[in-house]
Amino acid sequence: MTSRIGSRYPEVYQFPARPKERFTLMPIQTTSKIWHNGNLIPWEDATIHVLSHVIHYGSAVFEGIRCYGQPVGSAVYRLPEHMQRLLDSAKIYRMELPFTLDELCAAVVDVIEANGVAPCYIRPIALRGYGEIGVSPKGSPVEVYIANFPWGKYIAGQGGADVCISSWNRMAPNTMPALAKASSNYMNSQLIRMEAEVNGYQEGIALDVNGLVSEGSGENIFAVRNGVIYTPPLANSALSGITRDSVLTLARHLGLTVIEQAFPREMLYIADEVFFSGTAAEVSPIRSIDRIVIADGKVGEITKKIADEFFGIANGLKPDRFGWLTPVKVSAADPVPA
Ligand SMILES: Cc1ncc(COP(=O)(O)O)c(C=O)c1O
Repeated sequence: MTSRIGSRYPEVYQFPARPKERFTLMPIQTTSKIWHNGNLIPWEDATIHVLSHVIHYGSAVFEGIRCYGQPVGSAVYRLPEHMQRLLDSAKIYRMELPFTLDELCAAVVDVIEANGVAPCYIRPIALRGYGEIGVSPKGSPVEVYIANFPWGKYIAGQGGADVCISSWNRMAPNTMPALAKASSNYMNSQLIRMEAEVNGYQEGIALDVNGLVSEGSGENIFAVRNGVIYTPPLANSALSGITRDSVLTLARHLGLTVIEQAFPREMLYIADEVFFSGTAAEVSPIRSIDRIVIADGKVGEITKKIADEFFGIANGLKPDRFGWLTPVKVSAADPVPA
């Protein structure tokens, strides 16, 4: 422990050394353009003032979307669903976006094609800008930005992640709306994720305010027991994940039984399989929770089946039978072999 001059706090904690294969650092890789309120501007000009409302009060809603390489070209995964969620998040916060769903979807395609970067991660954000310093956001203009850049795996580890139950709960209902993908919610996510990492885990699973399983810091969660798939309903303070919806749809089409039901943490310990879903995490198996190994510690059959379907469709190797892909005219850096 080193003490910093002038501070009443010694260094609070240090993140443990990260074993390379279990944790990935992902510095942002720049591209050329960012879409801002209808125009493509240079990457380095996409800046905001330190007195912008969003910086002080977390007043922004955002999305995270992936564009996958295909055998020919690339495709954005569930673009309209993501942009509809952006509009929904904005509506919850009384934030008027001056763009329609179609315009926002077209903007995503434009910025990807302008940058010529795929596969990539896309980050649309609508924020309250520079205007007034009071808490009421009405005097601060709404600004919309969309950036895209290359991005790899979010939860590393082929054989499954080692995770923990967080000591932090997800937001209680009627405090911060969990159905809005709002920047401010990610202060809670940061507490969950940092606690997990400091203790040597890859991710944390939060319980809701009643002690029932909610979700990961940035992922929805599924448990499989006796061939049945369980996931917490949205009322357990979980985000309505687009990938969660994909998993539910794919599982039903595979003839599997899926139940959206509240359950306690111990149900995870005794499950046959547990996995995360999310745009960043995709379909990520979980190997252990609180150092309790899930079943035999190997990736389960149902997780594998769902992951195969998910990646098959996303990478254009299986028919896009649910209409989930929006093609973009960019050849993938590393084309998917047909
Ligand atoms: C808190 C939280 N839950 C769940 C998810 C998964 O949602 P999606 O599948 O739409 O990415 C995310 C990621 O966006 C998230 O941040």
